Amino acid sequence: MMSQDDLKRAVAKAAIAHIPVDCIVGVGTGSTANYFIDELARIKHEIRGAVASSEASATRLKEHGIDVLSLNEAGSLPVYVDGADEITRHMHMIKGGGGALTREKIVAAASKKFICVCDSTKLVDVLGKFPLPIEVIPMARSFVARQLVALGGQPRLREGFTTDNGNVILDVLGLKIMNPVELESTLDHIAGVVTNGLFARRAADVLLLGTPEGVKTMTA
Ligand code: A5P
Repeated sequence: MMSQDDLKRAVAKAAIAHIPVDCIVGVGTGSTANYFIDELARIKHEIRGAVASSEASATRLKEHGIDVLSLNEAGSLPVYVDGADEITRHMHMIKGGGGALTREKIVAAASKKFICVCDSTKLVDVLGKFPLPIEVIPMARSFVARQLVALGGQPRLREGFTTDNGNVILDVLGLKIMNPVELESTLDHIAGVVTNGLFARRAADVLLLGTPEGVKTMTA
């Protein structure tokens, strides 16, 4: 019987085939991304380096002897590899379970191709069972929470957590996310919101889904 970790490891391995030789790779955050970093270490002499979407991923990359560049130095990237908390067949995602959503969205936006690596438990018909993470400027926390309640959500402050950017996270339950592209924009327009965890405008281009029958490659 394959465990969830086995499936994550399998997709991380499969993602290596999508990395062009001699490129700078955009690297995500989370347990699946960590497996990807471990796989990337095996081909580290074939890449120029990586741009990390979190301090945690940067540390792991460096521990493997992979050069970490800032996005400003690197410019546009050919490929970004990251996990997700939920993904649909349209390649829309909820991300930010690990709290790295802002830098993830920036690196994803700066990358030509987004390869999402997930085990099959992450594939859903409708987004929203997983509480939607929203990074908020600390002084706007209560104001943003009230706006989210008005939109039908139940925001909860992620206790004891500060993002790499010095902000807080509200995890929002109860949102029926029938139109992720529209909701992503609506949430972005609330003053005090830095980033919301809907990745719909810049969806994934390829999903490598780890299933007990093997890795499935899906596109929108
Ligand atoms: C990190 O902020 C998230 O966006 C991750 O991509 C997400 O939480 C997936 O993590 P796992 O690979 O650990 O499930």
